[in-house]
Amino acid sequence: MARTTITTQVAIMGAGPAGLMLSHLLAKQGIESVVVEIRSRQQIHETVRAGILEHGTVNLLVDSGVSDRVLREGDRHDGIELRFNGESHRINFKELVGESVWLYPQTDVFADLAARREADGGDVRYSVTDTTVHDLEGKPKVWFSDAEGHDVEVEADFIVGADGSRSRCRFQVPEANRKWYFHEYPFAWFGILAEAPRSADELIYANSDNGFALISQRTETVQRMYFQCDPHENVAEWDDERIWSEFRRRVNGNGFELKEGPVLEKMVLPFRSFVHTPMRHGNLFLAGDAAHTVPPTGAKGLNLAIHDVKVLFEGLDSFYSSGSTATLDSYSDRALDRVWKAQHFSYWMTSMLHTVPGADDFDRARQLGELHSVVGSEHGKAYLAESYTGWPTSR
Ligand code: PHB
Repeated sequence: MARTTITTQVAIMGAGPAGLMLSHLLAKQGIESVVVEIRSRQQIHETVRAGILEHGTVNLLVDSGVSDRVLREGDRHDGIELRFNGESHRINFKELVGESVWLYPQTDVFADLAARREADGGDVRYSVTDTTVHDLEGKPKVWFSDAEGHDVEVEADFIVGADGSRSRCRFQVPEANRKWYFHEYPFAWFGILAEAPRSADELIYANSDNGFALISQRTETVQRMYFQCDPHENVAEWDDERIWSEFRRRVNGNGFELKEGPVLEKMVLPFRSFVHTPMRHGNLFLAGDAAHTVPPTGAKGLNLAIHDVKVLFEGLDSFYSSGSTATLDSYSDRALDRVWKAQHFSYWMTSMLHTVPGADDFDRARQLGELHSVVGSEHGKAYLAESYTGWPTSR
């Protein structure tokens, strides 16, 4: 059967938050896009991901008209707790830097974006197969088979690879034209969803002799928590009692006790830092996890993706309104400026809070010295607060 050709301005690979947000921002300026996604809408919606939004991410969702549900149903958090040596130390974001973050799971961000694109008549093709991209240095094209099995060609001015951490787009950049940076960590996170009341109103990042744990929340009755584990840990070997006893060893003490309940879901989350540079090749632009992944300790993954597309949108908007490529040409540098700040912050939080297998007494005592130097100093706490709540958009 012949391939049907569609012509558009921007072809976007991936209907995660980055792809949908970009498509939404472009549509508001009258710039056409087609979004192509191999997963079904249901599959993306059911993916359990992180939950912290920087104030800049919240502002973009609300001000660009995606939805204000985050303000109504999300929880504003004015701080976090760092817990070590059995004691909690609050980092008061509001007091330190005048900002907050919102606990609002990525699955809700996706639902809001998908609903907005649908209501606005956006062209989003879920459940496609056999995607390939062509002619990146000329007039780029995307080929795919749609959900009904029809072969389609999308011809565009630009292709945006927002196709996630397993991006196929980034492999289209010739090796000579890219540099990949990797950092592996000797641990992973064991994540659970549990049916239990909240144990705290804010997130608790806990360092202990027995390893790291993070206490987060989802609803009044469902909680999200993680503990540091071996990257090869097998979830099948962990029943509820074993899971809870691991949490107890890491966070309970001095009057604090986690509220426990049935474990609804358990998973091992891989941990690594990755950056692809530059984030552009010819008429292909990479955005979000396709170009970079960070360990989850800094809660930066989704926020970086949204920052990328905000900056990319400014470049595309400027190109279509003035014909000038200057802003578009600065995309990679501007996006990477924030990516490397976030890489450092995520690495720093990770190394400060996790125990490294084989660490000796010196390593452990030095780590406690580091934690004390942060919580004992207004400047130390302010650095953490500024990074966690999010830097201004890169110039
Ligand atoms: C979450 O709620 O899933 C979450 C929160 C903060 C993180 C990572 C994950 O740093």
